[in-house]
Amino acid sequence: MRAIGQDTLGGPEVLKIVEVERPEAGPSEVLVRVHAAGVNPTDSWHRATGGLMHSGPIRLGWDVSGVVEAVGLGVTLYAPGDEVYGMPRLPYEAGAYAEYLVAPARHLARKPAGISHVQAAALPLAALTAWQTLVDTANVRAGQRVLVHAAAGGVGHLAVQIAKARGAYVIGTARADKHEFVRGLGADEVVDYTSVAFETVVGDVDIVLDCVGGEYGPRSLTTLRQGGILLSIASAAEAYLAEEARAVGRRGGFTIVEPDHAGLKEITALVEAGALRAEIDTVLPLEQAGKAHEMNDTRRTTGKIVLTVVD
Ligand SMILES: NC(=O)c1ccc[n+]([C@@H]2O[C@H](COP(=O)([O-])OP(=O)(O)OC[C@H]3O[C@@H](n4cnc5c(N)ncnc54)[C@H](OP(=O)(O)O)[C@@H]3O)[C@@H](O)[C@H]2O)c1
Repeated sequence: MRAIGQDTLGGPEVLKIVEVERPEAGPSEVLVRVHAAGVNPTDSWHRATGGLMHSGPIRLGWDVSGVVEAVGLGVTLYAPGDEVYGMPRLPYEAGAYAEYLVAPARHLARKPAGISHVQAAALPLAALTAWQTLVDTANVRAGQRVLVHAAAGGVGHLAVQIAKARGAYVIGTARADKHEFVRGLGADEVVDYTSVAFETVVGDVDIVLDCVGGEYGPRSLTTLRQGGILLSIASAAEAYLAEEARAVGRRGGFTIVEPDHAGLKEITALVEAGALRAEIDTVLPLEQAGKAHEMNDTRRTTGKIVLTVVD
C-alpha cells in the first residue's frame, strides 16, 4: 500500500510517498481503509523529533476516518463496510497517513452520520483533547466562565463549541481578523491577544484551556477565581503549573489526550445534534503531506488541515 514515510527526522521536506506492506488486524483490532487523515501539531513534532516514545522516524498520523475492511479475532463492535473514525494509539505509532491502518477496535467509534470523511478526520484528536480537558477533567457546567486560548485553532475552535454546548460563558483569544469566526462558533467574548494583554480584561474565570503555552500559563492563573482550573495542553514543559496553581488556591497542570471510545461517542452525539463541527482550513491529497506540514508548522491555521487518501 502507499503511505507517507521519512528516512530521517527533519522538516516537511523529509516526508515522501513510500510503498509498504498492508497491515493485518490482530485480535481485537480492525483494519481500516483510510479515506481521510487529519493533521495535527503533534504530527509535525513527531516528524522532527520522533516524539515521546521513539528516537527515530515513525509512520505519522493519528486522526483517521475510513471504512472497516476487516476485523480481527473477537471484534464485535464493527463489521466490514462500517464507517469509523478515531485517534488510535497516541503516543505510540498509528500510521494514519496511509491507505490502510490497523487500530484497536475501541480506539475508534462509528463515524457521525451526515458528515464527510474529511470532516470526520478533522475531529478526533482535537475534539477529544477539548472533551477530556473541559468535560472529563474540569466538569464544565452551565453558567461557568471558560477562557479558551487560540480559540480559532484546531483544538480551540472545537473547545469553544463544546463549552457552549454545556451552557458555559465562553471567552476566546484570537487575532482580530478571526473574531467573526470565533463569535460564529458561539463565543460570548473574543480578545485580540495582539493588541490587549488578556489578563487585563478577563477575570473571574472558572476554567482556562491553554492551547498556547509559555508565558500564557502563569498569566492565565491570574484570571482564575479561587478554586478555578488551568488546563494546559501545549507542552509537557507546562507540568510545573500544577504546583504554581496549588500555591495560589487554584488547580492546574499539563494534560495529554488519550484514545477514547466513550469520548468519541459523546463527540458523535454533539455532531449529530448540530452542536459541533470542524472548520476545514485546507484539504490536500496524501502525496502533499509535506505541504500540509509546511502549513501546519506556521501555527496560523484556522480549524484543521486534512489529507485525503480516497477521493
Ligand atoms: N497535550 C495534548 O494532548 C495536546 C492535544 C492537542 C494539541 N496539543 C498542542 O496544543 C497546541 C494547540 O493545538 P492546535 O491543534 O489547536 O494548534 P493549531 O491549530 O496549530 O493552532 C493554531 C491557532 O493558534 C492561534 N495562536 C497562535 N498563537 C497564539 C497566541 N499567542 N494567542 C492566541 N492564539 C494563538 C492561531 O491563531 P491566530 O492566527 O489568531 O494567532 C491559530 O488559529 C499545540 O501546541 C499542540 O501540539 C496538545
